[in-house]
Amino acid sequence: TLVDQLSASWQAPSNIALVKYWGKHGVQLPANPSISFTLSDCKTITTLTAIKAVKHGFEIKLDGKLKPSFAPKIESYFKRIISYSPWIKEYYFTIETTNTFPHSSGIASSASSMAALSSCIVDLESQLTGTDIDLKKASFLARLGSGSACRSLEGKLVVWGSHDETSGSSDLFGVDVSQSLHAVFQDYQDTILLVDKGEKTVSSTVGHELMNEHAFAKARFHQAHSNLTAIKECLYTGDLDGFIKITESEALTLHAMMMTSHPYFILMKPNTLSIIEEIWAYRKETGVPVCFTLDAGANVHMLYPAAHKDTVEQLIKSKLAQYCQNEQYICDAIGSGATAV
Ligand code: PMV
Repeated sequence: TLVDQLSASWQAPSNIALVKYWGKHGVQLPANPSISFTLSDCKTITTLTAIKAVKHGFEIKLDGKLKPSFAPKIESYFKRIISYSPWIKEYYFTIETTNTFPHSSGIASSASSMAALSSCIVDLESQLTGTDIDLKKASFLARLGSGSACRSLEGKLVVWGSHDETSGSSDLFGVDVSQSLHAVFQDYQDTILLVDKGEKTVSSTVGHELMNEHAFAKARFHQAHSNLTAIKECLYTGDLDGFIKITESEALTLHAMMMTSHPYFILMKPNTLSIIEEIWAYRKETGVPVCFTLDAGANVHMLYPAAHKDTVEQLIKSKLAQYCQNEQYICDAIGSGATAV
């Protein structure tokens, strides 16, 4: 039974990968498995309204303003999901969205926005069918919008991609593996230093594609599997040293793949490297277990236990903020996934 008008509102967070997804095949299938911390405060809040219509269509608003520039991405998302949720053919959608972080901060909103939108879709679906909201399906649909978005539905720790040792992990959706997360990681912090807020020079879509012909692809994909096995052990036993070694190596490897693809490119900025050197010097000097990771961009994510919040804040204020655009940074922490609002 189709109802004339339906609506749902959901919020979904961003996530930060520890073992990186870089390279894909087929319809949004990862070349290697990845694992991420779900974040808490960097979120997208979306209201989806569906009105019964003769023809499928949509409009999208960011902060109340129509955003035709977002249409192509949403268009291809709807095309990919239509066979899994065929009822959407009969509705016109209004997507109203807002982010808790500045839109042009260099923080990708694709993970949080695709996760929030997909949660709304499965919510409407459950209203139509009278069944429970299916977060696993939300993750599956989010993957079709933006690969890493499938890791933003649940928390605190999510694996995406089939991997021998993670029972139940799949290339099709993210799986929450936080059950055995060690206490030291339960309240982990992620402070994002905004080195460069500009538009990326090379999109992640292009970056993934360049892995197809990459000279080091095979070794890299193999390495991601062994790093996933090893980092899970660290995350479950509370091995901070092991965690830091794998996390930082993964970040540098991601960027090494960019620098060694054809065409090659560099997304780090001089200030990215200055921050990394400061973090290394600080860790050596104080023993505080703070480390960095990077996304496909110049910004630096600083990861550390909540117990060290004050001293890390000191370090940022006294030394690291000067490397950020307008001295801006965002304090976030590990969180628990998408929720209805
Ligand atoms: O989800 P995409 O296609 O934007 O790819 C994101 C890839 C990285 O952020 C660089 C790594 C990851 O696993 O999130």
